[in-house]
This record gives sequence, structure tokens and C-alpha cells, in this order.
Amino acid sequence: RPGCTRIPVVVHVVWKTTAQNISQAQIDSQIEVLNRDFRKRNPDVSGVPAAFSALAADGRLEFALATRDPQNNPHSGVIRVQTTRDSFGSDDAVKRAATGGSDAWPSDEYLNIWVCQLSGGLLGYAQFPGGPAATDGVVITHTGFGTTGSAATPFNLGRTTTHEIGHWLNLRHIWGDDGTGCSGSDFVDDTPNQGGPNYEVPTFPTISCSNGPNGDMFMNYMDYVDDRAMFMFTEGQVTRMHACLDGPRSAIGE
Ligand code: ARG
Ligand code: ZN
Ligand code: CA
Repeated sequence: RPGCTRIPVVVHVVWKTTAQNISQAQIDSQIEVLNRDFRKRNPDVSGVPAAFSALAADGRLEFALATRDPQNNPHSGVIRVQTTRDSFGSDDAVKRAATGGSDAWPSDEYLNIWVCQLSGGLLGYAQFPGGPAATDGVVITHTGFGTTGSAATPFNLGRTTTHEIGHWLNLRHIWGDDGTGCSGSDFVDDTPNQGGPNYEVPTFPTISCSNGPNGDMFMNYMDYVDDRAMFMFTEGQVTRMHACLDGPRSAIGE
């Protein structure tokens, strides 16, 4: 898949308190982060250790707020819905007007991003390719969305959305989702085998599963570290995301 793919985005802001009704500036800051992170234009990519730097890849994806609604009328790409719900869980209620949320736009034309108050410290969650259209997209808690407004440290660099869009494009967690074992795989060849998730801001090298001397690629967007500690996708991950765009998500993008 040569060149760049542009993905139209619709942001559903589902709010109860005014803090949850995030500003256009906060939304724009998130789109800007995506356009850096998925083009390897994020300045902090310079922090990738030399041992991994040849693997850091340009995702060749661009994101833009939709300029048309599904009926082809001009639109801002932002939907604001007031809700009576204090918070949402991972049960997809936020994705339906009937359950206090906002209905998805057609997932073959748009990436749906719901921004709301998630409960229990959940930063975000995603639907992998192949699921129902009505719930397709990613959900991000407003305090982990963008870089300004209600975005709160240490998740205020927009990386939760980068991570969840990785899942939406079929990326698995870098440790292989097997707890802390060494048998799980992310089905990507150029990421080191890794035991479990890393958190906060690890120091290099962090070794698990006999993956020395370089250890875990904890600075990958698909680990669980703080926003300021994650800053790369690999070539293999980009290949997997583009295979998704050539396969189950081939309708989206121009
Ligand atoms: N699904 C993960 C969670 O809610 C997202 C982790 C994102 N990590 C980050 N540094 N922003 O726990
Ligand atoms: Zn995840
Ligand atoms: Ca593992």
C-alpha cells in the first residue's frame, strides 16, 4: 500500500459536566498528535534508543475531521451530545443515543471517536476490525484526550488515542496479551518478545523473556507506559495496520 491514507474522523463529545464538553482546541490538539505520531513526525521519536531506531516507522496515515456528514451535507466533524450519565464503561453504551450516548456514523466512511467520562480509571478502548458497524471506533476518556483543556498528566499527550487507533487497525499489545508470560505474541516480527506490560517511565534496557541486551520495546505506542514514554510504531506494525486497510477496512480512506 504505497503513499499516505487519509482517514476522516468524527468526534462524538458525550458530556454531562462542562469539563466533559471539551473545547474545539482540545479536539484539534488530538488530531495534531495523530498526524505527528502516525507520520513519525513526533519530536520525541528522538528518544528511541539507538538499538531500536532503525525499526521506528512512518505509519503513512493522516487524520482529518470530517467535512461532510453521511448525507453529504457540510459538517464540522464534531457532534456534541449532552447526557444524564455520570460516566461510561466499556459496554458501548456511549455509542448509542438510546443508552445516553451518540450513534456511530458509517464505519466504512469514518473513524468514530467517542470522548466521554470513562469510569474506573479506564483511559480508552477500541473495537478491532471485523466487529459490528454500530459500535466500530474508539472511546477515549476526556482527561486522556488531546494535549490541552481537561487533558491531565501523565496522559495528556494524546497517546491514548494513538494506542486505541493502533488496536482499531488490528495491532495487539506489544507483550502479546498473555499476562506476564513469554508465549503470547503481537503477531509482529520486529517487536521483541516481551513478558507483560510496562508502566510509567521505564529505563532502558528493561529485560524480560531473555530479550537482552536491548530488552522490551517499552517506548512503543502499544505498551502501557505514560504518554511521555511512548513514541514509536515499528515497520512490522505499520505493515499490519496497512494490511488492515487493504483488507477489513478497505472502504475507508481516500
Ligand atoms: N486501553 C488502555 C487503558 O485504558 C490505554 C492505555 C493507553 N496508554 C497511555 N499511556 N496513554 O488502560
Ligand atoms: Zn490497548
Ligand atoms: Ca508476553
